[in-house]
Order: sequence, then structure tokens, then C-alpha cells
Amino acid sequence: MSTSPSPASVLNFNALFDNPLFAGGIGLASLGAAAAFARKGSIVVLGAARRRLLVNVEISKQDPAYPWILAWLSQPRETPGFIASRLTRIHNLSVATATASRGPGAGGPINAHFFLQPGYGRHIVKFGKAFISVNREKHNTANMNTGEPHEIVQLTTLWAHRHVFEDLFREAHQLAAKANEGKTVVYSARGLEWSPLGDARKKRPLGSVILDEGIKESIVGDVKDFLSRQQWYVDRGIPYRRGYLLFGPPGSGKSSFIQALAGELDFSVAMINLSEMGMTDDKLAYLLTKLPKRSLLLLEDADAAFVNRRQRDTDGYSGANVTFSGLLNALDGVAAGEERIAFLTTNHIERLDPALIRPGRVDLMLKIGEATKYQATQMWDRFYGDVDQDHSGRARFLERLEELGLFGQYKDGQASNRHTSAAAIQGLFLFNKNDMQGAIDMAEGLIPRKFEAEDPTPDGAIKTPV
Ligand SMILES: Nc1ncnc2c1ncn2[C@@H]1O[C@H](COP(=O)(O)OP(=O)(O)OP(=O)(O)O)[C@@H](O)[C@H]1O
Ligand SMILES: [Mg+2]
Repeated sequence: MSTSPSPASVLNFNALFDNPLFAGGIGLASLGAAAAFARKGSIVVLGAARRRLLVNVEISKQDPAYPWILAWLSQPRETPGFIASRLTRIHNLSVATATASRGPGAGGPINAHFFLQPGYGRHIVKFGKAFISVNREKHNTANMNTGEPHEIVQLTTLWAHRHVFEDLFREAHQLAAKANEGKTVVYSARGLEWSPLGDARKKRPLGSVILDEGIKESIVGDVKDFLSRQQWYVDRGIPYRRGYLLFGPPGSGKSSFIQALAGELDFSVAMINLSEMGMTDDKLAYLLTKLPKRSLLLLEDADAAFVNRRQRDTDGYSGANVTFSGLLNALDGVAAGEERIAFLTTNHIERLDPALIRPGRVDLMLKIGEATKYQATQMWDRFYGDVDQDHSGRARFLERLEELGLFGQYKDGQASNRHTSAAAIQGLFLFNKNDMQGAIDMAEGLIPRKFEAEDPTPDGAIKTPV
């Protein structure tokens, strides 16, 4: 009787498994597979646990909160407990340096403050009862506008402690607000983004800008009135915007006044120079829709949009790129921002088009002109009020300016067509800080110098500046 061999006996499994080498190999392989399986399983489980038990917050460098969080992290903090204090030590730091003006004495070193902030990598900080893992990372990609590499800070804590983030962000924001207290932040456009131009400046007191009688009060009153009427605009469906045009010669205090006004209102200044190279209609329109909150928009050199494009200079500069219609659209086209206080300044009112000066674009137009007698008087008092108590110095100074015809006419009423600027008066006083008589003696220097194009006179001589 023949019996068909069983498959096992054909392969002779028994013999195979009896082979110690083979059995050992299989054993090892299955052990390896089990370990790999367990590893993968534990990664999945850990990942799931992580997702369920932890909470992540990511802040990118583009976000305004980014510097606040870094500043908050760099605050010195005591962590009680041996283990906790060891755990939260930051070993990897980076430096942010803030410089201030020179210390007393000419040539003194520039005051510098160094802030240590967590460098790139992982750190642990303790906030209240919660441990927070901080991961600061620089990416390989870069911001197309500024060319800066993307950067993020990731904060991770236990799900149970997720509410600490609210407190953390509030604290970071308060810290940032406190650092800017009494200061005015000036933003400028960098690519398609607004970024602070240098450090926040000390607020300029409104009293330090001396305009002709009543002008300052009328603008400040108008702006404050506008700020108190938001609901009025909303109820009537009118865009909540107001525009001011300040025009006048250079050095009359237009920019200084706007800066001081921002300080008075606790606003920042968002500044764009319309004659700036590379400023285009699209860019302007976009920037105006993204204005920093609580800021006064300052558009300097508004006439630049009206000047015919200049010939390309040797340095490749071909004049401003913002066009007249671009400026009008940015100010009140369909894409214009809803809330805004805009200040336009120009030295050349005659170059502007009447279309600009219509309500909605420019609601109030004010001349900030050459220095008047009123301004000269006020400025004198600000500089020498304490030493010139009987005002005799002031009387002599004003008389001298009238003698020189610096208020548009001579003492006898004859027109002089001569004016001076507040900036020039300030310069004179600064030069003669503690010397009233010096300022009076040098008053002639306030006569504006006119530079004329070099024009050969008939006898071939070149006219020199008068
Ligand atoms: N009315 C003023 N009161 C006090 N200081 C003034 C006044 N006008 C000008 N100054 C001083 O002169 C300097 C130049 O002023 P500012 O830049 O404000 O002039 P501006 O009118 O904006 O000139 P521009 O048209 O050239 O931009 C500043 O240092 C400012 O302090
Ligand atoms: Mg100016």
C-alpha cells in the first residue's frame, strides 16, 4: 500500500525546525519583527496620546505677537524647586540689542541694552503650575517680501493646562504695551508689510510744536471729535475715515506735528513716502488696507503722485511710481480700508489736483506756513523763558526779525517778501542754547539762502548762492 507523502514530509519541516540554526534564525527574525511592530505601535500610540494629552500653539514671525512672546520668554523668572529650576534653565540664548542715544558728554558711548532671549531649539519654561515646552525654529523658506527666513515659536503644554496660554498671551501683550508706554511707534512699509522703523521714540509733547495761533487746536479738536464719533459713522453707513492735508514750506513742522499728535492720542504713525523708489499703486493700495491698529497714516510728499515721471537718472531712478489715480483709489476706492485717519503733506500745494481735495479723501486742508511773529514769540519763551523773565530779550529779538523783514514785511510796513522757518529759528536757538544775546546777534542767519541754478552771467561769471 502506498501512502502519499504529506506536504510537511515533502518539505521536511520537522527536519528543518529540528535544525538549530534555522530555528534560531526564525526566532531572531520574529523577535525583530515584533520589536519593529511594537516600536511602530508605540509611536502611533504616543502620537495619539500626544495629540490627546498635549496642546500646541504656533506663532509665526509674521505675527505681531512674535516679538512679544520672545520678550516675555526673556524675562528673568524664579522657578522654585530643585528639579524644576534645573529643567527650566535655558542653555541656548540669543541676543537682541537695543541702543539708545549717547550718554552724557560728547563722544560718550552709546547706551545699549542687551536682552537675552531663548535661542533656536527646545527649552522648557514654567508658568504658574504648567510646564511649557518652547521650540523656536528657523525654516529654510524665506519671506518673499523681506527675504527673511521664516521663523516660528511653538509652545506645547498639557491639555489640562491649555488655559495658561490665555494668561501667557495677555501677560506678553501687557509687557509689550508697557515697554512702549510714553513712546510713539513709527511704522514704515517694508515690502508689503508694515514694520516698526527702529525703536519706539519718546513721545513728542504737543506743546513742543509751535504752529500759528489756533491751527494746532483746530486740528487736534477735529481729530478728537472724529475719534469720538465712530458710532455716528457706523449708524449712517459711512466709511469711518478722515483725511487732512498739511501744506507749506520745508521745516514748518508738518511731520513733527503729526508725530506729536500721535503721541497725544496714544496712536502710532504709519508712514509712506510717496516719492519713495519702488512704491507702486498696487503696493500702496494693499498697504492702506493693512494699516496697523490705532495708527495715523502719514503720506509724505503727496505731490509726488502728480509730477510727470522724471527722466531716468544716471542711478536708474525714474521718479515715483505712484500715479494720481493710484493715490485716489488707495484713499477711497472700493478696496480702501474702512477705518483710517490720514495725513498728507506736501511742499507744493500748486501741484495737487482738486480731485484729491474732496471730502472722503481730504476733509480738512491747512497751511503750515513760514514762521509768524506769534510763533517766534512762543519759541523764544520755550527756549529762554526762564532766563528772560522781563521779556526784554524777546522784545529785542522780535524787533531784530522785523528789521530784517523776516515776517514778510519791514517795520515800516513795506513788503519784504522774506520769511523764515520754524526749523531755522529752532536751529538758531539750539546753536545759542544759553546765550540769548548770541541768538539776537546771529538773527541775520535766519534769512533764507536761495540757491539758483548756475547761470553764466553775460560777463561769464557764475552766480553764487545769495
Ligand atoms: N512749528 C515748529 N515748532 C517747533 N519745532 C519745529 C517747528 N517746525 C519745525 N520744527 C523743527 O524743525 C525740524 C524740521 O521740522 P519738520 O520735519 O516737522 O518739518 P516739515 O514741515 O515736515 O518739513 P518738510 O516739508 O521738509 O518735510 C524739526 O526738528 C522740528 O523740531
Ligand atoms: Mg516733513
